[in-house]
Amino acid sequence: MINEKLEKAFNDQINKELYSAYLYLAMKSKFAEMNLNGFVNWFDVQVQEEQAHGMGMYDYVLERGGKITLEAIDKPEVKSENILEIFEQVLEHEEYVTSRINALMDVAEETKDRAALSFLDWYLKEQVEEESNVGGLLATLKLIGDDKKALLMLDKDLLARVFNPPVIG
Ligand code: FEO
Repeated sequence: MINEKLEKAFNDQINKELYSAYLYLAMKSKFAEMNLNGFVNWFDVQVQEEQAHGMGMYDYVLERGGKITLEAIDKPEVKSENILEIFEQVLEHEEYVTSRINALMDVAEETKDRAALSFLDWYLKEQVEEESNVGGLLATLKLIGDDKKALLMLDKDLLARVFNPPVIG
């Protein structure tokens, strides 16, 4: 059975993961408006990953005999129309998610729930990967600058990204 405080922290994080999917869905539409289909695909995969992250926790809470309490998902705000700035927001958001996973692990530690800690290890590793992926893309976008040809080449590359359902935990 999962501790009540930890159950609440998991439910909060499920909300954050679903919000992430919602935010990336909003960002995806910006790239659709620009006809950059590779970026659209990149965000599409990102949305599916966030949904999988949320559902991984959802299933885990149930598996541990806990209760799911779904709250309202905040309205997503894409702060800029500029490609580089959108990716800066993505990185900032992922860093925030990492801090929330760390906070969730703090609660698991506090409640001495070693099973939950071991489950959450996967999320921690995933965050390292997410931050590194987005950081890499951001660096490429900085290099590209105003070069439209190079941007279209990157867009083509991003078409290749596929969603592989993660094996969580
Ligand atoms: Fe689920 Fe992008 O963190």
